Amino acid sequence: MTKTRVIGLDIGTTHVRAAELEFGNGGPSLTARPRLVRLGVAQLPPGAVREGEVVERQTVGSAIKRLWTEQKFSHKNVVLGIGNQRVVVRDLDLPAMPIAQVRSSLPFQVADLIPVAVDDAILDYLPTGVRQSEGGDVMQGLLVAATKDTVTANTAAVEVAGLRPVIVDLSAFALSRAMARGEALEHTVAVVDVGARVTTVAVVARGVPRMIRMLPSGGQDVTEAVAAALQIPLDQAEIAKRGIGVGFATAPEHERAAEQITTVVSALIEAIRNTMVYYASSHPGAGVEHVMLTGGGSQLPGLGQYLSTATRLPVSAGQPLDNLDVERHAASPRLVEEQYTLAIALGLAMGAAA
Ligand SMILES: Nc1ncnc2c1ncn2[C@@H]1O[C@H](COP(=O)(O)OP(=O)(O)OP(=O)(O)O)[C@@H](O)[C@H]1O
Ligand SMILES: [Mg+2]
Repeated sequence: MTKTRVIGLDIGTTHVRAAELEFGNGGPSLTARPRLVRLGVAQLPPGAVREGEVVERQTVGSAIKRLWTEQKFSHKNVVLGIGNQRVVVRDLDLPAMPIAQVRSSLPFQVADLIPVAVDDAILDYLPTGVRQSEGGDVMQGLLVAATKDTVTANTAAVEVAGLRPVIVDLSAFALSRAMARGEALEHTVAVVDVGARVTTVAVVARGVPRMIRMLPSGGQDVTEAVAAALQIPLDQAEIAKRGIGVGFATAPEHERAAEQITTVVSALIEAIRNTMVYYASSHPGAGVEHVMLTGGGSQLPGLGQYLSTATRLPVSAGQPLDNLDVERHAASPRLVEEQYTLAIALGLAMGAAA
């Protein structure tokens, strides 16, 4: 049996995370059940990555390099995630044509659709469906346009670590691949990853991502609001926010902090909700049925309940490991406990074989 091993690398604002998956015959697919063989997580110093974009190339490169030395990943080809506000994802319908032709014609098709010059952008297209029209079949899909700067900032850090970024993929696509598996393949679900600075929303219908939003807010914004309200340093504010949560009764000395948390969280929840409302209005009768939450920021006590109340939908904690087998030496109680932070790295490795 031929086995394929793919490594996904997620460079986040607070941590880099790498996951190596092994696939049996047929390689990666939405119904394959991969095996997690290696996993590495390294914390980054504040400022090394800003809003999903590497600022300190050497710092991030060394952290990745250390992961490779410590965890002994089996090769150096990685699928790298990108995704922040500077990446544009939008609907684009095209006449039906082979994907290779789509890729070569994209620069000519999209000049008016993206806010940056085509020469400064890296373009990709994910076909999501076909509809009939008078003129013939129309391919529906998502156009992804990332500025070259954003992509090279991250690929350069990977290269500093001595690795090869063979595929660059949208983190939101990875998120949907990791979470919209199994039973979710029969439904329309929203997967929401609340990070430190970036919240990624993917509406996924029967396993196909149909709408993507990257929102510029996350757990770090909540921590900063608490620090400002209580006039305390960020590390103390981090602890305080976990104690206060959102939507609970608070002690009088925490009232101001609780108010600030509510302000930040409600703006974020509203933006998430708007994405789903917009999706439902353009897909009547086929809106989101269920929300899955991942990312460190999703652990804020009360956040899931708040989102459920705002969207009137069931919200559950995403458990990406349910969709995998885990090799014994890669398993640890901490891995299971913190699996909500791994969805993007796992989903990157679930993409095309690197
Ligand atoms: N138990 C917890 N309770 C509340 N918040 C938490 C908890 N654990 C982690 N967080 C928050 O999660 C955030 C980090 O999440 P995560 O590790 O998913 O982000 P990241 O991937 O590094 O960043 P990004 O995706 O935004 O680039 C931090 O703001 C942290 O405060
Ligand atoms: Mg993240």
